[in-house]
Amino acid sequence: MIRRPRRLRVSKITRDLVRETRLDMKVLVYPIFVVEGENIKSEIKSMPGVYHFSIDKLDDEIEDIINHGIQNIMIFGVTHDKDACASSGFAEDGIVQRAVRKVKSLTNDLNVITDVCMCEYTDHGHCGILDDTGYVDNDRTLAVLAKIALSHAQAGADMVAPSDMMDGRVGAIRKVLDEHGFVKVGIMAYSAKFASNFYGPFRDAADSAPAFGDRKTYQMDPSNFREAMLECAYDIEEGADMIMVKPALSYLDVIRGARDRFDVPIVAYNVSGEYSMIKLAISQGLLNEEAMYEAVMSIKRAGADIIITYFAKDLVRYIGSY
Ligand code: PBG
Repeated sequence: MIRRPRRLRVSKITRDLVRETRLDMKVLVYPIFVVEGENIKSEIKSMPGVYHFSIDKLDDEIEDIINHGIQNIMIFGVTHDKDACASSGFAEDGIVQRAVRKVKSLTNDLNVITDVCMCEYTDHGHCGILDDTGYVDNDRTLAVLAKIALSHAQAGADMVAPSDMMDGRVGAIRKVLDEHGFVKVGIMAYSAKFASNFYGPFRDAADSAPAFGDRKTYQMDPSNFREAMLECAYDIEEGADMIMVKPALSYLDVIRGARDRFDVPIVAYNVSGEYSMIKLAISQGLLNEEAMYEAVMSIKRAGADIIITYFAKDLVRYIGSY
């Protein structure tokens, strides 16, 4: 007997019927970049279609996000107020704290997640406190991260997402949040975050590139799968509500591995470099727009429950009707 798998591809209705993986706007997280100043909505050069917004310009943007059916945002703050110990990162009137308060004053329909890290606020651009040799001091950094997370919770964040890759930061943050009564504020841990070349456009957007050296003493070696599983296990033990693999497209095996081993929600971060490569290829006519959908679908198929992606608004065209 000849096998005829094409029978299940015969029409769009049949293809829709047998589709194994579906994307849903409700599982997407849309990152936004907030800058100091007024009346600013300016396209980020390294990330076509992604903008810097000043806080007063968030009204229209939040409305637009909600109109796209997006329910989750992740806020990144961009500031010139930098020092060696990231003081502006935990200031009550810091850029992220003000942005969170603004979004919360506009709507209750968005889950507001904040990125917790020091690199946007340190003058040296590293994700922690440096010792005399320029090495990031893990344990002194934990206290600062906990302060940043707490200040985000106090501003109204629903969930905090530590992206620094220090050892023990999930436990340190959980402890401080609980001590201050923020038991409902969740932790989305960047658990398996690799020292990737695909963060380039983001560092441009967030003004967070390290002034010297690289992040290889804290972010993971791209070659390591088993170590990624260990990082995930430790974060769950310390109290992470969800764990993340980052980047996504070059790490689909890591996403699948985490999905198969752990029962907490798995988040994947479809990062700036992955976004800009596809966007630029589309703008040059080298790829169809549908490539965006295919890329994000592959992350879901690999096992991600939740996807952080700059494509979220673009995907509304494909999700549902596709
Ligand atoms: C902060 C942080 C980075 C990203 C998210 N949070 C940059 C980095 O680690 O250098 C990258 C996101 C992206 O590339 O889209 N530590």
